[in-house]
Amino acid sequence: MSTLLVRGRGPVHGTFLLPGDKSITHRAFLLGAMARSRLRVRGALEAADTGRTLAALEQLGTGVERDPEGGITLVPGAWREPPAPLDCGNSGTTLRLLAGMLAAHRFTVTLTGDESLLRRPMQRIVVPLTRMGARVESRSGCAPLRITGGNLLCGTTHQLPVASAQVKSAILLAAARAGVGVRLREPGPSRDHTERLLALAGRTVKRLGGGWLELKAGPGNLDLPAELSVPRDPSSAAFLWAAAAVTGGRVETPGVGINPTRVGVFALLRQAGVRIQITDERENAMGEPVATVVVEGGELAPFTLAGDEVVRAIDEIPVLAVVAARAAGRSVVRDAGELRAKESDRIHALCQGLSAFGVPIKEESDGFVIHGGGDFAADVEVDAVGDHRLAMAFAVAGLCGRGTTRIANAECIDVSFPSFPEVIGAQWET
Ligand code: S3P
Repeated sequence: MSTLLVRGRGPVHGTFLLPGDKSITHRAFLLGAMARSRLRVRGALEAADTGRTLAALEQLGTGVERDPEGGITLVPGAWREPPAPLDCGNSGTTLRLLAGMLAAHRFTVTLTGDESLLRRPMQRIVVPLTRMGARVESRSGCAPLRITGGNLLCGTTHQLPVASAQVKSAILLAAARAGVGVRLREPGPSRDHTERLLALAGRTVKRLGGGWLELKAGPGNLDLPAELSVPRDPSSAAFLWAAAAVTGGRVETPGVGINPTRVGVFALLRQAGVRIQITDERENAMGEPVATVVVEGGELAPFTLAGDEVVRAIDEIPVLAVVAARAAGRSVVRDAGELRAKESDRIHALCQGLSAFGVPIKEESDGFVIHGGGDFAADVEVDAVGDHRLAMAFAVAGLCGRGTTRIANAECIDVSFPSFPEVIGAQWET
């Protein structure tokens, strides 16, 4: 059941309640396992990636309770050496953030994952965690990682080689768990959910200017509120926003996260001529901004994405490429070489996939150029190469394509948005 069938259709209209934010769900679970008392998480994303984080925490000694209202409660326990390697599946966030926390524990753990995760670069966390005092063995800079932690050094400073929230969070969580202070500098502003959650526990990460962040020493067990509620995921919503954009429809997504470090997609859709209305804006109890976002499609214009803006829209680039493919003119994405280090080489696989739709797209080392506006080919067969964001982006292309689009290796949608096929009326090939 890995080939998804999507039929071309008219405008996508409706109100959609998206699943919980993936990045925030991982962090709520991880911080819950560091809390002094029980933490109930409401609105958590229940999907393959976040399931990996929960399962790993259970093996490390944290209790997990589910209630009939859909809440998930983390019951903190003493962390212990797990009997077997922890399998992080497809989830880079699970592996990198957990590696940080494990760097503060005296036992030895192996973190592993699926074929895609074992290909992704881990040197970016191995180096800082080693400098902090942990022993981290890798397979030529990739997972499996064998981590023996303990005795982390206070006051280490790190300059991140890339703007990456996963690397930043691995360092912050290592320091927070060990109770030591740390300074780090990131080349661009990545998503700040870890900082917002640590602040809730009174462990404020100070911005020092020039991209430097500082976490002061403090207790390794956190005092968190008894309950947190996760905003709906803007990265999942982006597929429906784009679906409205390319089909000339209108979608409304209430309660979605609009953290400024995440929603670079708004500026790009607006550049493309898409109307976006943001109402009912508020800060939720987790310190995260949420709102109702209404997106209306119309005639589309080309856009350019480059520089610091890339990190704020990094996970939305595959579906933005579909919008570009429908916009008459030349759209450019550059400075996005990090896309090659995601669940797949997203630049290459995206270029292959959109070429199958007949879209003129040129692959560059750090992005691509699209000459959009032409009709898509009919009855396209395309390969999502096991990458959830590519599978859903190709499905959005299928909605405005002709005939039936067949997307191979698309079961990975389970990683972040299991109900997506149903939401857009797609079927699995039987
Ligand atoms: C994430 C950070 C980003 C993003 C990923 C989730 C996170 O990765 O692409 O989907 O939850 O911290 P990088 O930190 O590798 O940029």
